[in-house]
This record gives sequence, C-alpha cells and structure tokens, in this order.
Amino acid sequence: MTTPTREHRRPTAAAYAQAAEAAGHAPSIHNTQPWHWQIHPDRLDLYADTTRALPGTDPDERMLLVSCGAALHHAQVALHAEGYDVAVRPLPDPGLPEHLATVTITGGTPVTAHAVRLVQAMQLRHTDRRPTVDVPVTAEQVDELRRIADAVGVHLHRLTPDQVTDLAVAVSHAEDAAAAEPAVLAETHRWTGPGRPAGTGLPPEVIPDRRPETDVGERDFGARGTLSVGGGHDKASTYVVLFGTEDDRAAWLRAGQALSAVWLHATMQGLAVLPFSQVVEVDGTRVMMRRILSNLGYPYLVLRLGVADPEHALPGHTPRLPFDATATIDQTGR
Ligand SMILES: Cc1cc2nc3c(=O)[nH]c(=O)nc-3n(C[C@H](O)[C@H](O)[C@H](O)COP(=O)(O)O)c2cc1C
Repeated sequence: MTTPTREHRRPTAAAYAQAAEAAGHAPSIHNTQPWHWQIHPDRLDLYADTTRALPGTDPDERMLLVSCGAALHHAQVALHAEGYDVAVRPLPDPGLPEHLATVTITGGTPVTAHAVRLVQAMQLRHTDRRPTVDVPVTAEQVDELRRIADAVGVHLHRLTPDQVTDLAVAVSHAEDAAAAEPAVLAETHRWTGPGRPAGTGLPPEVIPDRRPETDVGERDFGARGTLSVGGGHDKASTYVVLFGTEDDRAAWLRAGQALSAVWLHATMQGLAVLPFSQVVEVDGTRVMMRRILSNLGYPYLVLRLGVADPEHALPGHTPRLPFDATATIDQTGR
C-alpha cells in the first residue's frame, strides 16, 4: 500500500533534524551512542564522537563504527518513512576520518506501509538477554534476514551446531582476555556501573539477575542486574554472523547499517536479538571467527536470535542522551 509522494515538499533542515532524533533509538556498544549529527539545510553529516569511544575494549573503533552505522541506517529509515529518497556518501572526507557519512535528500518517494512499520520497529527494538524458549527460528526467517543484509552488501551466515560449539569456545576465550585487561574492566564498569554517564550505559534492569543457562555464554558485565532470567536453557537459539570481504572503516559502517536493517526486520518477525561482540573485539578470537567462516570473510558481529521466554518480563528501556547532546544545527547554511 502506498500514499502519494512528497515531491512537492522542499528538503528542509527540519526533516534532517527529525531523522537525527529518530536515529537516537539505534543500538550501540555499551549504549555509548558514539555519534554526533550536524544538521544543515541541505544535508545531514554524521560524525564519530570519540569522547564516548572505548579505547580499551574497542581499540580499532570497529564497534564504534558498527554503532554509528546502525544510527545512520535508522536516519535513512526515518527519512524514507517521511517520503524522502536519500543518497548516502560514506566517509566523504579522507582527511577527516571521524566524518563518517553525509546523507542528502534526493527527491520524493511513495510512503509505504513497510517503511512506516520499520519506524515503529525502531521504537520497539531492544537488546534481549532473557533466555529463549523452544520455538525454533525458521529457515524462512533467516533467509529473509540474509536478503536484508545482502541488500546492504553484508553477508549473514547461520552457524551449524558444530560451529556454535566453536563459537562458545571463542566467546569463553574472549571473556578471559577481557577479564585480564584492566582497561577493559574499567570501561565495562564505567558504562554499566552506578557512575555511568547520564543518558548512556546499561541500567540494572537490562542486565540478568543471574548467569543465564546458555549454549554460548552471555557477556559478563561484572555485576548482577535485576532482569529476571530464571533457570531455563536456551536450546532453540540460532546464531548468525554478519561478515564481509573487507575489514576497514567503510566495511564496519556498512556492517552497522546491515545490523540495524536485520534487527528491525527480526523485531517485525517477533524475534529477540542479542549481539555478541567480544569475539570480534579481541584479536585472537577474531581469527577463530574467521576460521569458523572458513576464511570466506571478516566477521563483524555475532547475533543470537530466538523467541524470548514470555514468562519473564521484558527488559526495561536503556536511556538515551538528549537530542542536543548528539546533534548541532547549522543555521548558517554552509
Ligand atoms: C556494535 C554492538 C555491539 C554490542 N555488543 C554487545 C555484547 O557483546 N553483549 C551484549 O549484551 N550487548 C551488546 N550490544 C547491545 C548494546 O548493549 C545495546 O544495544 C545498548 O545497550 C542499547 O540497548 P538497546 O539495544 O536495548 O536499545 C551491542 C550493541 C552493538 C550496537
């Protein structure tokens, strides 16, 4: 179902501002929201905000770029749902690596029901650390997510049971490596502990109240939260890897766009999603993940998919920074 295009509408800074605000719903590593938008009358510029980077956990800024890519895709989705076609120029200035993308409205497009549902999914989407129930994720669901990732130029591979066992070993190694690194422990505490910066980080309501019984160990945030997870074992979870043939900033940004697209569609399918990034953050386990992928590409992120146990209440919402902490409006028209 479509409604008429909005070709008559002039691109305005207001549309860009609305998109930047909607992008605030995007997921990010430790909920750092490491992006900054500059809103101009004729374009939207995305910058990395390295004051919220994780130099110990994420020294190459892989997860920072993936997080910013997710915010970029959220902004694209918001503009489409308003009836705008957009062009995205990734990394437009080679001399300024923190300038990640420029988004420009190129014309009008029919507003589809699908575009509107994607915006609704942006508001519903959340990270789910509850165990999953014995309802399998179907091949059709995974195929749809694979097509969604492909459309952004990123591959999605569903791990076989043997590969899930290998993943569990890699995750355990990555956890050990993190536990031995004071800088990583300090960052985890900073973004999940009581002193986390206002509007960011993980509140106790989204962190399990006990170590969940899972095939692949969930990230250890160092302290127990209040999210009730019970004693069930998540036997029906499916693990997928987002990967690609390049391993640079442009690829990580694209991976983030794919992550957002896949997560929003998984949300519409009723699936719970949990990212596992430790195995990609740590050099040694990233190599293990490459082997699991038979060296066909570079791993960007592992995702657990499943149907969350309805016996346990939904996790609370993670906070977000106020709009003016992540965006500035250029009134000069430059
Ligand atoms: C690149 C990236 C990596 C992430 N890695 C993990 C992870 O390893 N373990 C985890 O529990 N959550 C992980 N998350 C989920 C974030 O903690 C979550 O997106 C953030 O706290 C915001 O919460 P929300 O997704 O519910 O909005 C990751 C998210 C992103 C975007």
